[in-house]
Amino acid sequence: MSEFNNMEFMAKTTLYTGSGSLKFLKGAIDKYGLEGNFLIVTDKGIQGAGILQKVIDSLPGIEEKSKIVNDIKPNPSVTAMNAIYERHKDDGIQNIIAVGGGSVVDAAKALAVLFTNGGSIDDYFGFDLYVNDPLPIFAVATTVGTGSEGGHASVITVDNSDLKTKKLVFGEGLFPKAAILDGELLLGMPGSLVASTGMDALTHAIEGYVSRNGSIVTDALNLHAVRVIGEAILEASSNTTNISAMNRMIQASTTTGIGMSNGGLGLVHGISHAIGAQYDAPHGIVNAILLPYVLEYNWIANPKKFADVAQALRVNTWGLSVEDAAKAGVRRVKELTKEVGIPETLSEIGVREESIEILTDIAFNDELYMGANPRRATRKDIKEILTKAIGPTNQELHSETEKVTVGSAN
Ligand SMILES: [Fe+2]
Repeated sequence: MSEFNNMEFMAKTTLYTGSGSLKFLKGAIDKYGLEGNFLIVTDKGIQGAGILQKVIDSLPGIEEKSKIVNDIKPNPSVTAMNAIYERHKDDGIQNIIAVGGGSVVDAAKALAVLFTNGGSIDDYFGFDLYVNDPLPIFAVATTVGTGSEGGHASVITVDNSDLKTKKLVFGEGLFPKAAILDGELLLGMPGSLVASTGMDALTHAIEGYVSRNGSIVTDALNLHAVRVIGEAILEASSNTTNISAMNRMIQASTTTGIGMSNGGLGLVHGISHAIGAQYDAPHGIVNAILLPYVLEYNWIANPKKFADVAQALRVNTWGLSVEDAAKAGVRRVKELTKEVGIPETLSEIGVREESIEILTDIAFNDELYMGANPRRATRKDIKEILTKAIGPTNQELHSETEKVTVGSAN
C-alpha cells in the first residue's frame, strides 16, 4: 500500500515544456557555466528527421566544441557504450547533450558515468556505484515514451556474458540537469512510433500506479499520466501533426517517468527486458503487447487501484463492483492496444515458444520488477503469461485453418 512505504522521492531535472521550448536549452546550459567540449548523442533517424540540426541551431557556437555520436541503436549494449567511450575519451568531453528517445538518453547517462570514472559500464550496474560524479547531461526528448529524460536510471543490454539480459545503472548524478519537452519537435514523426512509445509510457503509468513500492506522491504522477495518455494517444498516433496531442503525450510520458523512477515498475518490464535483450526487440512494442496479458494476471492483487485505472481511462464504471470495474479497465487497455495498431501476440514479432524457459528464468530472477509487481508471481505464472502472449504459432494457426476448411467441406 502506497501510504505505508518509506521512500525517498527524487526529481532533479528542470523541465521545459510546451511548444517551442527548445529555445530554453541554451539558457539551461549557460546557467551551469560549463567548460570543455560537448558530446552530442543521437541516432541516425533523429539526424535524418532534421531534429539534431534544430538543436544545434538553437545553440550558437556549439558545433565547434562538440563531437557527435549519431549511431546509438535501440537497446544500447555494454560493448557499444564502452566502444564509444574509448573512441572519445581523449576529446576533452565535459558535458553531454542527448537528442533522442530512451535508448539515446540511457546511452548518454552510461557515457556520462564512463567519462568521469573509466572502466567498463558493467562495473556500475546497481545503485550509486561510481566514485566520481557523472558529466552533466542535457536531454532533448524526441519520443513520447521513455521518461528517461526525467529519471536517474540507464538501461543497458548485457551482451558480454553468456546470458543476454538487461541491467540498470542508477545514480543521483544521472538525472539530466534539464530536459526539453517540446511537442513541436515531434510533429510529423511516424504514427507507429507514437503508438509504441506512447504505450510504453502507459505501461509505466499503470505499472507505476499499481507498484508495491509507490507512494501517494508517485500515485499522483502515474494516475494523472494514465488519464492524459488515455485521452491523447489515439489523436496523437493517428495524426502526429496534432500539436496539442503531441504536447500532452510528451509531458505525460515524462510525468510518469518521474513516477516510475521513484516508485518502480512491474512484471511487464521484467518480461520485456528479457525479450528485449534476447531478441533485440523494440521496447515499446514488446511492452504494449505484454501489457494486457500482465494486467489480466495482476488485477486481483489490487482491484481498487485497477478500478482507478479504469476510471482514468474514462471507462464507465457506474454501478459496477470494484472487481468488475478493474476488469473493465483491463479490457479497455486491450482495446486501446489494438486501436493504436500494436500486434496482439509476441509471435507476430518473432518471439518463439522455445524461449519461454530462458525468458521466464530472466524475468523471475529480476527482483527489481518482481518485488514491485502487485501480485507475487511464480515461475509457472510467468510461463503462463508468456504462453498466452506468444499466442498460437503460424504453424498452429495454419493447422487450425485446415481444420475449419475440412469441417466446412462436410
Ligand atoms: Fe519502459
